[in-house]
Amino acid sequence: MAVDHLSEVLKILDGALRANASMAANYAGLLADKLEETGNRQQARQIRERLSRAPTALATAQSAENGITLNNLPVDGESRLHTVDVSQPEVRDVGLVLPSAIESRVQEFLSSVRHHDALVRANAALPNRLLMHGPPGTGKTQLARWVAAQLGLQLLTVRCDTLVSSLLGQTSRNLRRVFEYAEQRPCVLFLDEFDALAGARGNERDVGELQRVVIALLQNMDALPDSTILLAATNHDQLLDLAVWRRFSFRLPMPLPDELVRETLWQRFLDTYAPANINFKTLVARSEGLTGAVIEQVCLDSKRSAVLAGQAQVDEDEVFRRLGLTLALIERVPLSTQDAEMAWLRRWDRKIFSLRVLAKLYGVSTRHVTNITQEGGTDGHEEDDKQSG
Ligand SMILES: Nc1ncnc2c1ncn2[C@@H]1O[C@H](COP(=O)(O)OP(=O)(O)O)[C@@H](O)[C@H]1O
Ligand SMILES: [Mg+2]
Repeated sequence: MAVDHLSEVLKILDGALRANASMAANYAGLLADKLEETGNRQQARQIRERLSRAPTALATAQSAENGITLNNLPVDGESRLHTVDVSQPEVRDVGLVLPSAIESRVQEFLSSVRHHDALVRANAALPNRLLMHGPPGTGKTQLARWVAAQLGLQLLTVRCDTLVSSLLGQTSRNLRRVFEYAEQRPCVLFLDEFDALAGARGNERDVGELQRVVIALLQNMDALPDSTILLAATNHDQLLDLAVWRRFSFRLPMPLPDELVRETLWQRFLDTYAPANINFKTLVARSEGLTGAVIEQVCLDSKRSAVLAGQAQVDEDEVFRRLGLTLALIERVPLSTQDAEMAWLRRWDRKIFSLRVLAKLYGVSTRHVTNITQEGGTDGHEEDDKQSG
């Protein structure tokens, strides 16, 4: 008879052989869930009955929220701070918009994870490992939450920079503890800010120590069963050690949002606060090159000012103003006065920021705007169209 849920059975066996009762129990629980899903209620019940008869110490560990007790979370040997954050993301809480090609690669990863055992039997399995790389704010952390939510698994997030310790050898020990912890339960292990660990070249840090950390990382990854779901994210893929890079069977470049994605993001983040006639086309055009995180920020800021002004919807000019000012911030243009802001906005987009619109937004006269943008009557004609409209 072929065993249908071999990876769970193997984990239970591992737990038993290592006298690690909580590992065995965690995976027995998962096996029961899977059996139930595939219609084997009877078998699922038998397993759960056994689990309910487990010794009390174990039972308390299991009954804590999500089957996790805080006191056995790994901590940094030096600072005693937790190195792992445990969460249970829900599908309805994680919005993610991706370009279609990226979306389908994520789906491919998910089905590969879901059908891992079948793929093993066909000798066609890839390790459940996904590396996301791309600029900050493109949704990598969000994607990790999304994957965990889709799989209905706990997300163990490790900020790799917090694993890196000043004590010699401590980083490798921290790493070992995190991997051991993750192996004990069905979960998605997510190594965020991955380049802090897997950097090939040392910044100021001792090259010898960094080499040791990379080697420890490789050893831990190699000891990890292929069925364990491992995600990693980095803003600096060019810093990754090649051997580490190669150990990820799925690699996902996270791009800046394209037009379609930007449109969805603007709509989604403004939500019911978007006025009926808001010009999404121009928002999409003027936010080219910006990340989802920036679009979200502009929307939240605009919503906030609407709420504070007692309005049910955002003001379109105000959204563009926020967008323009955010851009100045990104391009490090110092704008220390309102006059400087007006001049910048006017330069950024003369069509949106007509003299009249700027005067309204900042509560000043159009004459004042004309003065500070130094357009003293030279091109008044352009404004005539705007003002009559
Ligand atoms: N493609 C996207 N779809 C939905 N939300 C996004 C997207 N990209 C960024 N965001 C928003 O930006 C915020 C930051 O994204 P995050 O996942 O932390 O980026 P990263 O980890 O790549 O730096 C998230 O809270 C999310 O709401
Ligand atoms: Mg991130």
